[in-house]
Amino acid sequence: MYLNREQEMMLEGEMGEGKRLAMKLLVNIGEAVGATFLIPISSAHISGVSYRTGGEGLLETLKEFVELGAKVTVKSTLNPCGIDLLQGAFFSASAEFVEKQKEIVELYRSLGVESTLSCTPYRGENTPGFGEHISWAESNAVVYANSVLGARTNKEGSISALCAAIAGYTPYFGMHQIENRIPGLEVKVDWEVTVWESQVLGAYAGSKFPRRVPLFNMRPKFQVERLNRMGAALAAYGDGAILHVKDFTPEARRNPARFAGSIEERVEVERGEVEEFTASVSEGMEGASTIVIGCPHLDFDEIWGIYDMVRGKRVRAGLRLLLFTGRTSLHQVKESGIFGKLKEAGVEVYTDTCMVVSSLPDEGGLYVTDSLKAYFYMPRLSSKEVRAAPLKSILDYAME
Ligand code: F3S
Repeated sequence: MYLNREQEMMLEGEMGEGKRLAMKLLVNIGEAVGATFLIPISSAHISGVSYRTGGEGLLETLKEFVELGAKVTVKSTLNPCGIDLLQGAFFSASAEFVEKQKEIVELYRSLGVESTLSCTPYRGENTPGFGEHISWAESNAVVYANSVLGARTNKEGSISALCAAIAGYTPYFGMHQIENRIPGLEVKVDWEVTVWESQVLGAYAGSKFPRRVPLFNMRPKFQVERLNRMGAALAAYGDGAILHVKDFTPEARRNPARFAGSIEERVEVERGEVEEFTASVSEGMEGASTIVIGCPHLDFDEIWGIYDMVRGKRVRAGLRLLLFTGRTSLHQVKESGIFGKLKEAGVEVYTDTCMVVSSLPDEGGLYVTDSLKAYFYMPRLSSKEVRAAPLKSILDYAME
């Protein structure tokens, strides 16, 4: 792999041991995927924060980087952890878990990573521009950055994103190269698609055509910002890092002719197929004990929308309704006065964590979510029993 003088100095340890280790890992990754050089990045977003998923291995790796004097050199933000640190809500976490979780966040802070603890950095905390090369982990954020912002990132792991943040470079391959971002599959949908239905379509394309970049030929009933749920489903059910929507997402709008000419395979999805999928994941929602909403983290407008749907009602007895959001949106929710009103209605709002990486108890009932990503991961990362359904039908069930 070609390295410039600065990169060589890093690799030889002339710029500190932390950078040497980061550069060594990046070169190893780059050589493994056939990259021939590294490209500078403008930001990083790092996942692998929860002690629940990262465990002792994560702690040890972070301690090593800190002991070697490593520091990030580009704007770097952090994914959710296993507890709500800001509000002191620890769910069923043990005292030991809480201590270790705090230590992980502190170690990231020592490395210079901002404790944003949100999976939607693109909502203002870390928003790259069109064409910027970045190194992001967290699949929903990766798909959003590529698809909605037009930034360029591969789906990084927590350590590769951290190394890129420290070195300021990432291997040039995959989503950094324009030719890999061009769609090969057209998914045609002949009706106005809701946010829920977009998730089903994301899951469909991700699971059935995992190696194709999809171009959805559909009419969304929502703003482009809400594509984050579709992207989260695409990445959870497949391995996708980008999607395009005709006349809607930036690269599809800029290159209509090139995109039309690149399609090798076309499929049409009928409404009945989406309804069938919905029925299969929502079956048996009756008897739910906990509703979890906010995967990816809700923004202020989404929480306001939920408030609108629940005002004047209360969460039915025996049920918990939990919302997950980032710190900035939580602050807005508190400023707007609806935090207290939601609380009065029995709706709990948490930040810094989520239903997948937190220590919510596994036993004691059925979880229901409006997110197909949460539906996909919760049973795989715990023994929780989960159903998924559109937000409106969940709230109709939950409120009385
Ligand atoms: Fe975010 Fe947790 Fe979902 S990190 S995308 S809310 S799994």
